[in-house]
Amino acid sequence: MNTLSINNLNLTYKNGFQAINNISLEIKNGMLGLLGPNGAGKSSLMKTIVGLQKPSSGNIFFNDIDVVKNPEFIKKNLGFLPQDFGVYPKISAYDLLDHIGVLKGITDNNIRKKQILNLFEKVNLSDFQDKEVHTFSGGMKQRFGVAQALLGDPKIIIVDEPTAGLDPEERNRFNILLNDISQDVIVILSTHLVEDVRNLCSEIAVMNHGQIIRKGEPKKLMAELENKIWSRSLDQNNLENFYTQYEVISRQLIERKHHITVFSEETPKDFMPVNPLLEHFYFYSLTQKP
Ligand SMILES: Nc1ncnc2c1ncn2[C@@H]1O[C@H](COP(=O)(O)OP(=O)(O)OP(=O)(O)O)[C@@H](O)[C@H]1O
Ligand SMILES: [Mg+2]
Repeated sequence: MNTLSINNLNLTYKNGFQAINNISLEIKNGMLGLLGPNGAGKSSLMKTIVGLQKPSSGNIFFNDIDVVKNPEFIKKNLGFLPQDFGVYPKISAYDLLDHIGVLKGITDNNIRKKQILNLFEKVNLSDFQDKEVHTFSGGMKQRFGVAQALLGDPKIIIVDEPTAGLDPEERNRFNILLNDISQDVIVILSTHLVEDVRNLCSEIAVMNHGQIIRKGEPKKLMAELENKIWSRSLDQNNLENFYTQYEVISRQLIERKHHITVFSEETPKDFMPVNPLLEHFYFYSLTQKP
């Protein structure tokens, strides 16, 4: 069993903005879904875990090794798929993976070659390994990103919004791949797609304003909202009223008609009961103070 232990972590950027505000988290094998709105601090947290930036205070231990003090250790055991890759060098996909493999410490040429060919197979890029990555489509680049993240059999895999920009088929394939590998390692998946999280993650953490506001098993968290979620359609001009009267957790257009979903312990007048979804929990938790 692997354990990632984050204790009282803080990160303030040079401009004075505090992106991580006293986060403590313990993560074990399996997939943790990190959910949060734009600017919540998800990428900041992930970049700090992988050692791309140092925290202002607090510590991070991976299997009892202090990874802030020993960034080399986490690099060897880690697969990271960043939100944004930047530019690719003008070499073939194979050569790039080979180069990354060497950096990850896979020094044996035969072992490295075997792993690379195997990974290209896994992510469906075998036919393209001689092409340069900058010529790939968005989905192919993402799959290449997955291959480089899996190189070296990492014990912890961190993926930052991996399915953004993938078509539905690619997204499914990617999710199946992640699910397969998450049995024996820690996977942290950051995303806005609540549906992906519900299908894949044994645990979720909701992040907002640099803090983890809730954490737990999706089923248990949803159960908290049993008999407390209500919905109704309404006219646009009534909207204001509802916001002052009810604890509105979301508002949607369904077949071009406005619907609101509210949280209420009692049965609100003219509302229909709704089975709680993870999405409801997510929106509800964002309305709560940590
Ligand atoms: N290098 C930086 N310097 C200053 N502020 C930063 C820096 N990087 C991020 N921030 C700020 O920190 C906050 C958190 O950003 P972060 O990228 O971690 O959010 P996120 O949860 O990953 O958002 P998204 O869902 O949009 O990817 C934002 O307000 C952002 O503007
Ligand atoms: Mg981000």
